[in-house]
Amino acid sequence: MIDSDSFKKTFLSELNSASSVSELQQIRVKYLGKKGLLTLQLKDLPTLAAEERRSFGKSINELKEYVEAGITSRESVLSKADLRKRLVSESIDVTLPGKYTPVGREHPINKVLREITDIFVRMGFSIEEGPEVELDYYNFEALNFPREHPARDMQDTFFVTEDVILRTHTSPVQIRVMEKIKPPLRFIAPGKVYRCDADVSHTPMFHQVEGFMVDTDISFSDLKGVLETFIHRIFSPETPVRFRPSFFPFTEPSAEVDIGCIFCKGKGCQVCKGTGWLEILGAGMVNPHVFEMVGYDPETYTGFAFGMGVERITMLKYSIDDIRLFFENDIRFLRQF
Ligand code: DAH
Repeated sequence: MIDSDSFKKTFLSELNSASSVSELQQIRVKYLGKKGLLTLQLKDLPTLAAEERRSFGKSINELKEYVEAGITSRESVLSKADLRKRLVSESIDVTLPGKYTPVGREHPINKVLREITDIFVRMGFSIEEGPEVELDYYNFEALNFPREHPARDMQDTFFVTEDVILRTHTSPVQIRVMEKIKPPLRFIAPGKVYRCDADVSHTPMFHQVEGFMVDTDISFSDLKGVLETFIHRIFSPETPVRFRPSFFPFTEPSAEVDIGCIFCKGKGCQVCKGTGWLEILGAGMVNPHVFEMVGYDPETYTGFAFGMGVERITMLKYSIDDIRLFFENDIRFLRQF
């Protein structure tokens, strides 16, 4: 037989020393589980006389209810305590600094490249591209730079093999497009070019935009009109422009195009070396030899070409004095544009 009073006393002391919901669960198993203390008591039931059986069964059932009720009420106390403990241990310190996610910016070179492209697209130019790893033939030969020609020296070439190079300018796109399309044509070719050179105004990789237009009646005045319009839009409508005679193997006549110095307004300063002018691009009328190389009849067609450096234009537009700033990607620099 079971001594109810001492049973309850032991149970209560265990119950009160339980400090968490999971400890309570262990107590439940110990008393009420399949092999629990009260369940085991019932095993003796069949050996008892009939009248004893009834009162024994009744007292076991009462104890079960007692245990059940005890656990339930202790559970409600402990689960509140558990919650309080979790709220303290898992609380968030809202005064801590947040996680910093740096946000990027459009690169000034891309921004200016987009502006240049927009201006020419509005004048009816389409956009063409060519490979950065280029054949000597397209980069030099077909552009009327014969082998051993001194003009090749000015373009500090990266060689892949003797005949394969990194393009030193975007002019080879002229040849590739003419091989593909018959005139009239009017396009620009933006892209990366490579020269083995590095200082405050040169990096081994930089960007150029080539311009090209061919038809039966293109003249130097068309070239002047297109470039003046471009310069007035990319800088300002008041910017003075001048064409100065020059030489490129693939254009004849050739010119270098200057703008009035934007730093001293033409008075002469360190940047323009006292001349009042800044060179911004090369241009000219397509050399008839170049037309012959691609099978265009130079008696029928005329055209103009020009090429500009995007880093140089960006540096002038925003008064940036060191080209290397473009390649550091310091967000404090990039945010200024
Ligand atoms: N390709 C020349 C260079 O990178 C720039 C140039 C000059 C392009 C005159 C032209 C041009 O199309 O007509 O030095």
